Amino acid sequence: MNDSPTPSRNEETILELEDLRVWFPVHGGILSRHVGDVKAVDGISLKVHAGETLGVVGESGCGKSTLGKAIMGLVPVTSGKIHFASERGKVELSGLGRRDYRPYRSEIQMVYQDPFSSLNPRLSVQEIVEEPLRVHQKQLDAEQRRIRVEELLEKVGLRREQAERYPHEFSGGQRQRIGIARSLATNPRVIIADEPVSALDVSIQAQVINLMRELQRDLDLTIVFIAHDISVVQHVSNRVAVMYLGNLVEVGRTKEIFAQPTHPYTRALLSAVPRPDPELKRKKRWVLEGDVPSPMAKPSGCGFRTRCPIAQESCSQEAPLMETVSENHWAACPHAERFEEILEEKNAGS
Ligand SMILES: Nc1ncnc2c1ncn2[C@@H]1O[C@H](COP(=O)(O)OP(=O)(O)OP(=O)(O)O)[C@@H](O)[C@H]1O
Ligand SMILES: [Mg+2]
Repeated sequence: MNDSPTPSRNEETILELEDLRVWFPVHGGILSRHVGDVKAVDGISLKVHAGETLGVVGESGCGKSTLGKAIMGLVPVTSGKIHFASERGKVELSGLGRRDYRPYRSEIQMVYQDPFSSLNPRLSVQEIVEEPLRVHQKQLDAEQRRIRVEELLEKVGLRREQAERYPHEFSGGQRQRIGIARSLATNPRVIIADEPVSALDVSIQAQVINLMRELQRDLDLTIVFIAHDISVVQHVSNRVAVMYLGNLVEVGRTKEIFAQPTHPYTRALLSAVPRPDPELKRKKRWVLEGDVPSPMAKPSGCGFRTRCPIAQESCSQEAPLMETVSENHWAACPHAERFEEILEEKNAGS
């Protein structure tokens, strides 16, 4: 596997999230009163560049899938905006109802985590892959759809004869290829891949990741690649966005995030990854303890402070803003620069 993915050619923005929130209301008691909100996505601003692969990483429950679903129009947006540079011109997606969203749906497609449950076992591969064509390209007749499905299967490394088969006849990796073929059917510009390899054996993961890299390059796709394991996105993403409890804590070029993780949460994610760099090895490893707090009861101020090894009193007062670390690299921690120092002080004090 090559070390760096194809660089994005330009910095034209294809998707822009502006202070996006997706809160799920929670009702309780016999009167079913509104008792709170699950703040799954809680104020995310982010630009996705045309032609790039952007890795979105964070622990389970931090809102990654909800973010993807919001872009896909599959969950209602509480506030904020989703700007999309569609082939039909610029559009703001969050305000659109299902019907108005539909014309854009063919341009943004999703690949799901579990290739076992996301493919209907009663449908043949032909029927699965052509389904988006039936919805979005009604002008195609059965023969044209058949030809298109054959092309798509070949593109993802399957054989055209396999169109007649059913999902249970395929391995996990092959099923994910079928899911990818389906997502490509309408020639989308953007693919949201929600943990596309997490359900696969480690030995198969690299093959599917390589396939996605090839497709991204050949088809000029923009990919939002969601993963809970930061090491999975290293070889596939041009940039990485790190999420914690519904917020972004760090965004930057992949190389820079791995070489110079800045936010304490990113450092924690990376300290769990085996790394060859001896300089980094010498630095003390520390393990993230405890669980992510409930998104219904987020800590005040910085969401990460309850698990942060360098948390200060002031961290409970104000939510930190994204600050520039270097060009195209931002992190949301005002104390990050003094990380080692504060850690030493704390260790000396305890
Ligand atoms: N439809 C829903 N109604 C209520 N709460 C929801 C809904 N969907 C997600 N949540 C909650 O929102 C939070 C974020 O969930 P989400 O699935 O986006 O996380 P995730 O980062 O994708 O996690 P994972 O790595 O486990 O897939 C979780 O606390 C989850 O329970
Ligand atoms: Mg998820």
